[in-house]
Amino acid sequence: MSNTYDAIVIGGGVIGGSIAYNLAKRGSKVLLLEKDRLASKSSGAAAGMLGAQAEMDGVGSLFQLAKKSRGMFPTLANEIKEKTGIDIDLINKGMLKICLNDQDQQENKRIITTQRQNGEEAEWLTGSEIRKKEPAVSEAITGAMYLEKDGHVDATQLTLGFLKSATVLGVVIKEYVEVHSFKFSNGKVTGIETNEGHFTSDKIIVAGGAWSNKILAETGLQLDTYPVKGECFSVVIQQPLLSSTIFSHGCYLVPKKGGRIIVGATVIPRTFNQQVTVEGISLLMEKAKYLVPSIVEAEWERAWAGIRPQTADGLPYLGEHPIYKGLFVATGHFRNGILLSPITGEVIADLVEGKEPPLNLSPFRVERMVKQYT
Ligand code: FAD
Ligand code: GLY
Repeated sequence: MSNTYDAIVIGGGVIGGSIAYNLAKRGSKVLLLEKDRLASKSSGAAAGMLGAQAEMDGVGSLFQLAKKSRGMFPTLANEIKEKTGIDIDLINKGMLKICLNDQDQQENKRIITTQRQNGEEAEWLTGSEIRKKEPAVSEAITGAMYLEKDGHVDATQLTLGFLKSATVLGVVIKEYVEVHSFKFSNGKVTGIETNEGHFTSDKIIVAGGAWSNKILAETGLQLDTYPVKGECFSVVIQQPLLSSTIFSHGCYLVPKKGGRIIVGATVIPRTFNQQVTVEGISLLMEKAKYLVPSIVEAEWERAWAGIRPQTADGLPYLGEHPIYKGLFVATGHFRNGILLSPITGEVIADLVEGKEPPLNLSPFRVERMVKQYT
């Protein structure tokens, strides 16, 4: 089989998966390489929230990207189901961004005003209105911003759904293949070297999550990014405890199918260590118990950790390498890579094809903030 492709994607997470899927939909012959197992890093660790409004204030370029991406999920869920039979478990029962004190209330009311001024739906609920809707939440909750459109998906199923849909469309996927270096000629990328030999393409996309800087190091480009560890755990309860996601400072509870609840997440910057610690999980348990006391009755399922790819200005890098033509970067999605995956796949496929993307990508350009060129 020829080792030459129209495009090569580095990274088998949700971002690489979405890019490969979008390129394949447009007829490209694509190779995707993953150094470990598919969905084994951040994308398999995520809670799957689509928190366009809960995680952003409702203004700015990232919010516009997130809002467009959130709106793509219903169609995407159907596409993946039809192509592969995989259900990404899209649940649209809203999020409650809750308040525990006056300061939280002032902040959330300010955000509601901003979001409404920008045409978004955001509702204020008092403590008793919340408990009417969600009887399990604690009396300590004094109010909340209710965001009806912020749903969630199963992050691993979404990632595998993109990847399997891509293979149905002809993408070649190789696990346990690590990209070591690039080949260049006359300022253009021409291929890569891996532990399984050489592959040729003049379009290569780096979607290596928190490891993207390591992949790019030899290109003389050091992005201003850093890893941020996050730990989560899950429990199962027979009688469903929650309908909407409960989102608070340092703790969220996401009610999944079958009485499963994901509780997340710690935020520990500048480490690639993926160990789950007693400290991290006990901190989350204390917070979860404070928000939803009857969670103590739930059955323990498991705990895990992942490494989020963060950037110094909080915006992802989406664009072409400033020195080498044909080399593209899609990383730095931090806490919102699941949410941002559909739009990222679409805009990167546009850039690879030389088409104008449907959104202004200049705030996300690669050269806006690099630590060094050599
Ligand atoms: P990854 O999933 O890390 O994938 C990158 C892949 O590249 C890895 O599999 C890696 O092995 C591979 N790779 C690296 N180097 C090489 C190489 N040299 N050769 C080949 N392959 C290579 N986002 C949301 O939108 N909603 C949430 O609710 C949410 N919750 C989260 C909760 C936690 C605890 C964590 C940790 C993250 C959460 N996120 C959430 C963030 C989200 O998981 C990330 O933004 C997203 O998964 C990043 O995807 P990625 O594909 O860029 O990175
Ligand atoms: N977006 C949730 C998290 O990163 O923990």
